[in-house]
Amino acid sequence: MTETTIALVTGANKGIGYEIAAGLGARGFTVGVGARDDQRRDAAVAKLRAAGVDAFGVPLDVTDDESATAAAKLVEDRFGRLDVLVNNAGVTGGMPQEPTRVDPAIIRTVVETNVIGVIRVTNAMLPLLRRSSAPRIVNMSSSVGSLTRQSGPGGATTTGPVAMAYPPSKTFLNAVTLQYVKELTGTNILVNLACPGFVATDLNGFRGVRTPQQGAATAIRLATLPDDGPTGGFFEDAGDVPW
Ligand SMILES: NC(=O)c1ccc[n+]([C@@H]2O[C@H](COP(=O)([O-])OP(=O)(O)OC[C@H]3O[C@@H](n4cnc5c(N)ncnc54)[C@H](OP(=O)(O)O)[C@@H]3O)[C@@H](O)[C@H]2O)c1
Repeated sequence: MTETTIALVTGANKGIGYEIAAGLGARGFTVGVGARDDQRRDAAVAKLRAAGVDAFGVPLDVTDDESATAAAKLVEDRFGRLDVLVNNAGVTGGMPQEPTRVDPAIIRTVVETNVIGVIRVTNAMLPLLRRSSAPRIVNMSSSVGSLTRQSGPGGATTTGPVAMAYPPSKTFLNAVTLQYVKELTGTNILVNLACPGFVATDLNGFRGVRTPQQGAATAIRLATLPDDGPTGGFFEDAGDVPW
């Protein structure tokens, strides 16, 4: 068992996930860079290490059972436990996704990554998280998954384009996260959802208005919560996101 805090960030080779890894590393965490592509993962680990972060690579495709199992074994063999899991990897499935014309295959792909991927990786890592004295799980959601915002005044203009796969996948993720919270009540595992805001990354063709560092801030806060911190919350920088 090592004394340092061990984190795993999925989809950490670029964008917000990379900055979550960098931010946790700057706080002294040892950070597993979960990424599915060998070259992109190696490049991110090298860049983090050059910046002084104790980073290590974790081959991980969140849509693949064997990959998630192997990632858990890698972390177990090396550290014996996991303290923080940030489920950040996500895809939009590409736009447009009009409800009346959408290809169901796009919905399957997005749900497989954004929802089932989170379940798969969380369940693979839970035995290791249970060995931590202060386990934290952060699921990267989006305010577009807020049914309140989608249906409220101005929802059509403040919650992105009409899209059948991506926003509902985040609503699904929110619902799934609450079920984990219910099952894990009474344990020391804090499970929360983060919205990063509209961040300039590959995900949106860099049209976002926030930097990846800004987008990482809420997830980093939730990954480093004190023991009396919240669980079962949905947060952005400004505070609670309505369900
Ligand atoms: N950008 C925004 O405005 C915004 C707003 C709200 C929420 N979010 C959420 O924030 C998270 C990060 O998004 P981002 O904006 O940083 O996007 P990004 O730059 O496109 O990064 C997405 C990351 O997820 C990884 N990924 C995708 N599918 C994967 C899979 N099957 N297995 C493993 N990794 C996979 C990507 O890896 P590859 O490089 O291999 O593709 C990449 O590392 C996502 O969950 C997204 O939904 C973003």
